[in-house]
Amino acid sequence: MPAIVVDSLRKSYIIPKKAAGTSGALRALFSRETTQVDAVKDVSFSIEEGEIVGFLGPNGAGKTTTLKMLSGILFPTGGKASVLGFVPWERKNDYLRQISLVMGQKNQLWWDLPAADSFLLLKEIYEVPDTLYRQRVDELCELLEITQLLNTQVRKLSLGERMKCELVAALLYDPRVIFLDEPTIGLDVVSQQRIRQFLKDYQIRTASTIVLTSHYMQDIKELCERVVIIDHGEKIFDDRLATLVREYSDVRMLKLEFSEKVDLTDLTIYGRVISSDNLRCMIEVDRDKVAATAAEILSKLPVADIAIEEVEADEVIRKIFTRETVVVEA
Ligand SMILES: Nc1ncnc2c1ncn2[C@@H]1O[C@H](COP(=O)(O)OP(=O)(O)O)[C@@H](O)[C@H]1O
Ligand SMILES: [Mg+2]
Repeated sequence: MPAIVVDSLRKSYIIPKKAAGTSGALRALFSRETTQVDAVKDVSFSIEEGEIVGFLGPNGAGKTTTLKMLSGILFPTGGKASVLGFVPWERKNDYLRQISLVMGQKNQLWWDLPAADSFLLLKEIYEVPDTLYRQRVDELCELLEITQLLNTQVRKLSLGERMKCELVAALLYDPRVIFLDEPTIGLDVVSQQRIRQFLKDYQIRTASTIVLTSHYMQDIKELCERVVIIDHGEKIFDDRLATLVREYSDVRMLKLEFSEKVDLTDLTIYGRVISSDNLRCMIEVDRDKVAATAAEILSKLPVADIAIEEVEADEVIRKIFTRETVVVEA
C-alpha cells in the first residue's frame, strides 16, 4: 500500500467578506457577511513509501493547506486521505509520532529556549529512549554543523541556523513521513545548499517518505524525481520532472556565439531573445521551428558556435505558473 493516498481532498475557508478599500476592511470587521475561499478544490495523488516528491504550485495554489490537512492540523471540507494507514485529522498519537511537518515560515521551536531544551521536551513528548535520543541528536547536529549552537537561545540564531535546529527537532523521533513546506525559504545560498545536501543524504539513508514544497527549483531538481503540481487548488501535473521538461516545454534554447558583433534587432525575428551581448546570445525558439531557425541563422549571421538546449526546469515551471489557464495531461 502506498504511504500516502489523497483522494479528492478539498478545503474551503469561510472568511469575512471584504469590500474594496480600507473603509471596506473596517466595515468587514462588523459585518456578518462571509465569502468562501476554495483553497483546495480537488486534489488526488498517491506516494509510495520511500519516495521524495516535489509539491509545486504558484502562491496561493493550496500547497500549505494540503500539507496541513495531511499532517492533521486542519480538517478537510471533503475528500479522503490516508497516510501510513491513518486518517491524518483524527490525530491519533500513533500517527503523529510517525510524521513531521516543517514549515520554513513558521517557528516550531520555543523561541526563548536554547534548542537543546526544546529537543529535550520533544524527546519526552515523543517518548524517545535516552540512548536513541542522544545518538540521533548528536548525529543530526553534526551533519547540520550546529552542535556548537545548541545552548544559544533560538531567538539569537540566524534564520539558517534556526532552520537547521527545526530540522533536528522534526527528525529526532525518526518520523517515517516528512512534510517540508518551504524549508529553505529566505535562507542564504550556503545554508540552502547545506540543507538540501542534508535532506538528500538523510532520505537515502532512512528511506523516509518526503513531500517537499519549495520556491527554489534547485531544491526540487536536486531532491525530487517526481513532482506533483497544483494550481488554484487542483492538480495539473503528476509525473517525473524530466517528463515535464521534455514534454511540456514547447520551446528550445538556441545558444549562439558570433565571430563579429550582431545587432540585437536582427535576432528578434527568430524568437524571444533571452540574453545577448552582441557577441553571444540565447534565443527561445518554438520546438518545431528550431531546426529551420538554426539553419537560417547559420546562413545569414556570422556564427562561430551554436548549440540547442532544453529549457531549464525553472523556466518550464515559471511558465506554467504565469500562464492563465494550463492544460497538462497528467
Ligand atoms: N486560514 C486561512 N483563511 C482563509 N484563507 C486562507 C487561509 N489559509 C490559506 N488561505 C487561502 O487559501 C489559498 C491557498 O493557500 P495556501 O494553501 O497557503 O497556498 P500555497 O501554500 O500554495 O501558497 C489562498 O488563496 C489563501 O489565501
Ligand atoms: Mg504555502
